Amino acid sequence: MSSTLVLGVETSCDETSVALVRDGREILANIISSQIEIHRRFGGVVPEVASRQHVLAINPLFEEALGAAGVGWADVTAIAATHAPGLMGALLVGLVAAKAAAWSLDIPFIGVHHLAAHIWANVMANPDLDRPFLCLLVSGGHTSLVKVEGPRHFTLLGETIDDAVGEAYDKTARLLGLPYPGGPELDRLAAEGNPKAYKLPRAMLNEPGYQFSLSGLKTAVRRLIEKSAAAGIPVPAADLAASFQAAVVDVLVAKATRAAEAEGLTTLALAGGVAANRGLREALTRRCAERGWRLSLPPLALCTDNAAMIAGLGHELYLEGVRSPLDLPAASRLALPREQ
Ligand code: KG4
Ligand code: ZN
Repeated sequence: MSSTLVLGVETSCDETSVALVRDGREILANIISSQIEIHRRFGGVVPEVASRQHVLAINPLFEEALGAAGVGWADVTAIAATHAPGLMGALLVGLVAAKAAAWSLDIPFIGVHHLAAHIWANVMANPDLDRPFLCLLVSGGHTSLVKVEGPRHFTLLGETIDDAVGEAYDKTARLLGLPYPGGPELDRLAAEGNPKAYKLPRAMLNEPGYQFSLSGLKTAVRRLIEKSAAAGIPVPAADLAASFQAAVVDVLVAKATRAAEAEGLTTLALAGGVAANRGLREALTRRCAERGWRLSLPPLALCTDNAAMIAGLGHELYLEGVRSPLDLPAASRLALPREQ
């Protein structure tokens, strides 16, 4: 089979990214232009600002990625871009740029589901991963348990009914006065605290099904902060961070275990930005070792938003004969594909 070179484009939130991936695995370039510094002063991503930054970044990034990979436009087999879900204006920038490049080069264009690509980062990192496998998808916008059978066959088993895990981390980090983005900061601080210092709620832990509820946690942390402020005691930030992380990790690991057992799955995978969380990685590693299950943890560079995962899944879809129309719309929300 001849080799393929897929150019991936990702602009669904606040990272502009262009990647070149050979044969779905070999990452020749994965350039990420982060807008974190720009959004920091607002304490979160401002959609209109994100769109404008993508417009400024995208064309230079194409050239930078091709240069870093040591290839030219003529070497590219197909172009894959995120078309959903995400911020509408942000998505449109990468999607339109990718379609225009594919059209002018007369090569296939493939629209990619952002969450499917997060999940697929596991297959990129571990091509021999048994399918079906259970994926715990934890990002800034999503918290889901997904049974993965193929690049277009995902079954959603359960998801959060309120905040996503990343969102819960970011909001709680803000309460603790940590800089944006709070998730990684809270993770670092948690390592210095006592996870048993406070008993925080583990919502829906014992309820049947695989739904999560995470919004009550930040409220519980806020009350504790208010209490120590009222008593004139300094906020025990490290202990609160560690207790928060313990509560989140307990629920995620317990529900993932239950889902794996009920579905008879012995291969687990972690995906999304919060997959970088040290506490979660350690707890899942322990749980899988106890049960004799295989665990896939993608490298950190493939956990947070990046275009290599888009090119990786794009390659798989390309091999399956998927060709998206040039009028494929962007969508801020879209369920994971379920075709067989
Ligand atoms: O997947 P991602 O890069 O973007 C979305 O598609 O949402 O995830 C970003 C989220 C943010 O909420 C960020 O705070 C969180 O992932 N995050 C973390 C860690 N690293 C990133 N949360 C907890 N611990 C971390 N180490
Ligand atoms: Zn993401």
